[in-house]
Order: sequence, then structure tokens, then C-alpha cells
Amino acid sequence: MTLGDAVQALTLDVHLGPDDMAAALRSDARKGLTSSPKQLQPRWFYDEVGCSLFDRITCLDEYYLTRRERQILVNHADDIAVATGADTLVELGSGTSEKTRILLDAFSEAGALQRFVPFDIAEATLRSAAAAVASEYPGTSVHAVVGDFEHHVGLLPHEGLRVVAFLGSTIGNLVPAKRAKLLSEIAGNLDDGESLLLGCDLVKDTHRLVAAYNDAFGVTAAFNLNVLSVLNRELGAGFDPERFAHVACFDTENEWIEMRLRSLEAQTVPVVDLGIEVEFGEGEEMRTEVSTKFRREGVERELDEAGLELRHFWSDEGGDFGLFLAFR
Ligand code: SAH
Ligand code: AVI
Repeated sequence: MTLGDAVQALTLDVHLGPDDMAAALRSDARKGLTSSPKQLQPRWFYDEVGCSLFDRITCLDEYYLTRRERQILVNHADDIAVATGADTLVELGSGTSEKTRILLDAFSEAGALQRFVPFDIAEATLRSAAAAVASEYPGTSVHAVVGDFEHHVGLLPHEGLRVVAFLGSTIGNLVPAKRAKLLSEIAGNLDDGESLLLGCDLVKDTHRLVAAYNDAFGVTAAFNLNVLSVLNRELGAGFDPERFAHVACFDTENEWIEMRLRSLEAQTVPVVDLGIEVEFGEGEEMRTEVSTKFRREGVERELDEAGLELRHFWSDEGGDFGLFLAFR
């Protein structure tokens, strides 16, 4: 392979450039900081610091999700390659695409892998993951896409026979109405015979769930608080992370973990670029993320409502995590 081939094997589409990101953050922050209760969207966790904190989370003892999903992929990647018959692996919220190598290996060994399409909002992480995959899988073209899966799924490239992987239970970071919208958009973008491979964390003992979002080393707390530094840097905000505490609790009605930031005192925080001052009462909590825990029947129903037929379900031995393969 010549250098020219290697360069050609990697392309990048940007649907969300720096100006669009800045505008989207301004709009989300204005809405979230002036609503009651206050909230921020989890997509803003993932600046470079946030991406590397998330990587550290995936290695924590308490955070079983990544290990369990990896175990299922190791056990069933060959079945997935056969069942999908796909030559193109699209990955939403791809991050470092670390577990995805298990799928890439299985598709390569089946002689089917033509193309990898990682899709993420975090451009720097996406670029380095895409370059790494391009060099590790020399015969595979990598078509990376910078975008927001809540807005740009309709712009996914239509190349080859695709399986769209959405791993890590990232779908659980969307509330039900947004999940329904995203799943129907994915279904609408797929052609007949194409598929969705969806990783979902399952409902389990509340103590284990809460511990996964409140680890002993405080890495998840740092990940949660880092969003305040993003607002300080990008919007000229004046948050002092020391005056907020990380909170993680399980909402039994919605069956989701809710991460919040609690104001440790009454305070007024300027957000210069928005021209606003945000008042926090002592103990006031701002929601930063929901992380839904699923049941098999519920996921099957959501897939069905989106027009996707569930054909395979795999889990780990303890039933902690589920991998769902559904077809258009
Ligand atoms: N799939 C990986 C990473 C999960 S972390 C895994 O299973 O370990 C969640 C990833 O989704 C991050 O890389 C983050 O940048 C990305 N992400 C979060 N919100 C997004 C959005 N709205 N659109 C696109 N990517 C998003
Ligand atoms: C990416 N997402 C599925 C993670 C989760 O478990 O909800 C993000 C995360 N939040 C706290 N820890 C990890």
C-alpha cells in the first residue's frame, strides 16, 4: 500500500464545525440554566478532558458496563458478522472505538469488512480513533463523521450494506421521547436488510448501579464537574467547581441513574457570553445526565415502535448488560 492509498483510506465529514458547536452550546446552556429545575445536556461532557475522564471511568471496578459489553462482543462478534452480513460498520458515539476493534476483527476475519464509519460529536477524539483504525486495518476505508446523533443521523453515508452499532448504553443518556426520535431516524436511514446493534445496560441491584456512578476514586465526580469548566472556557462563565458537589441517584420510577451537580451554597454565577447571571440556592441541584437502565421487553418494544425487528439478544452470564440486534 502506498502512502497515497493510506491517505485516501481516511475521509472526514464535518456536520458540526466549531461555530455550530458554539451556537449549540449557547442555546442549550441558555435554555438549561434558565429553566426550573436547571439542567445541562450530557453531550457537553465530552471535551478532551471529558473524553479522557470517560476512558478512565471505563476501567473502574465499579463501572461494570464496559467490561460486560466487551465480554458479550468477544463471545458473539462472529455471530454478529454472520447475522448482519454487513460490509460496513457504522458506529454512533464512537469515542475511542476501543471495544469496536472486536467487531472489526470479526468482520475482517469473515472477509467482509470494507468500510468503518465512526460518528461522534468530539472531533479530536474521533480524528485520532479514525486514524488509528485506518492504520490498524489497512484494507478498510474509514469515513469519519463529526455530528450530533440527535440531529445528523439522516446525513450518515449510504455506502455498502451497513450495521449501525450504538454501544456503551449511550442511548440511555436520552430521555424516552428523544430515544424514540433517534431510533425512528436510524430506522428511516437504514435500507431493507441493514441493521442496528444496540448496547443497553440492564436494570439491576440499586447499590451496584449507584456505585457505578459514584466511584471511590472520584473519577465520575470529576467527569460530572468538568462540564462546569467547559462552560467557563466556552461561554466565559464563572463557575467554581469547588462550590458544587457530584450527586448520583437512582430514580426507581424512570429506572434511570440521574447525575446532578448540587450547589454547596447560595451563589450567583455570571455567564458572560450569554449576558446572564444564574442564581443557585443552597442545595439546589442541576441535572447533568440521565443514564437509563433497560429491560429486554422494553427495548424490544422501543425497537418495534421505530420499525425495527429484534432478531437477536445476547447478554453476559450475570445478565448485567444486553446487546440487541434488530433489522429494518
Ligand atoms: N461508544 C463508546 C463511548 C461511549 S461515551 C463506548 O461504548 O465506550 C459516549 C460517546 O458519545 C462520547 O464519545 C461522546 O463524545 C459521544 N456523544 C455524546 N453525545 C453525543 C451526541 N449528541 N452526538 C454524537 N456523539 C455524542
Ligand atoms: C456514555 N454513557 C453511556 C455513560 C453512562 O454510563 O451513562 C456516561 C457516564 N456517565 C457517568 N459515567 C459514565
